[in-house]
Amino acid sequence: MLSEEQKQQFEEMGYLLLADMVTERERLALIERAYQFIEEDDLSQAGQFSTTDRSRIDNRYFLGSAETIRCFFEEEAFDEGGELRQARSQSINKIGHALHDLDPLYRQFARRREFGAVARDLGISQPSLYQTMVIFKQPRIGGEVTWHQDATFFYTEPTSVVTYWFALEDATLENGCLWLEPGGHKGPLRERYFCEQGLLRMEPLSDLPWPTENGQAMPVKAGSLLVFHGHLPHYSAPNRSDRSRIALTFHVVDAASEYAEENWLQRPGLGHFVMSSD
Ligand code: FE2
Repeated sequence: MLSEEQKQQFEEMGYLLLADMVTERERLALIERAYQFIEEDDLSQAGQFSTTDRSRIDNRYFLGSAETIRCFFEEEAFDEGGELRQARSQSINKIGHALHDLDPLYRQFARRREFGAVARDLGISQPSLYQTMVIFKQPRIGGEVTWHQDATFFYTEPTSVVTYWFALEDATLENGCLWLEPGGHKGPLRERYFCEQGLLRMEPLSDLPWPTENGQAMPVKAGSLLVFHGHLPHYSAPNRSDRSRIALTFHVVDAASEYAEENWLQRPGLGHFVMSSD
C-alpha cells in the first residue's frame, strides 16, 4: 500500500498525507449518518467536551462512551441562559467512540482493507482499532484542541498508537485545520492520562515545551487521510468561520504491545477488532 518513500517520510516526519482515501459517496454517507446520530439522540444526557477545561467533562457519560455511540456538546454551545446558541446539529463537538463496531456504515468503512494495509506498512503487526470519533469543529463555536500527543490517551508499551485523521470536509486555516510539528514524534511523551477507579487525571511526564512556534498548518482537501504517530504533537485552532470542518478519526494500537489498564478507554464488552489487509 505505501511506497518506501512514504514509509521513510512517516519515520522521519511522524506523519503521512494520503489524498483521495475516502470516496465522494462514502464521504457524503458518513456525514449524513453522523447528523442522523444527532437527530436520533435526545441529547438530554449529553455532556460537553473540552480540552481546555477537562473538569467540564462528565466522567460517567464520557467513560460510558467507550463502548457506545454518544454525542458531546461544544464547550461554547450554550449561552449564559443555558440555551443553545445555534441549531442542535451545529452544537455538537464530537460523536464517539465505538462507531466502527456499532453502526453498519462506519463498521463497513473501518473494515476497508487499505486501512489495515497502511497500518501494517507502518510496522503495526496486529492493528487494533480502539476508537472512532466524528469531530465536527462547528462553524463559529468550534473549540480549540490544545497541543497534545495521542499516546497520552492510548498508552501502550512500547508506544504503538497511530491516528488516522480523515477529512470529511475541506480543512482550512479558517475552519480549524490540524497543526503539527514535523519530526516532533522523536521527542518524549509529555503527559499521560490516567483513569483509576473512575477518576481521570493528567500526569506530566516531561517538561519539554509544546511546539507553539514550530507548528505547521496542514490544510487538506476533503477525502484526504492524514496518518500520524502517537508522539507527534498536534493542535487545532477554534473555528470562527461559517463553515464546519468535519473529520473522522481512528486510533489504532498494536495488539502485540501492552495496552495500559489505566487508559480511560477499555473495551471489555467489544474486545479487539484487528484490521485486516488481505
Ligand atoms: Fe489528537
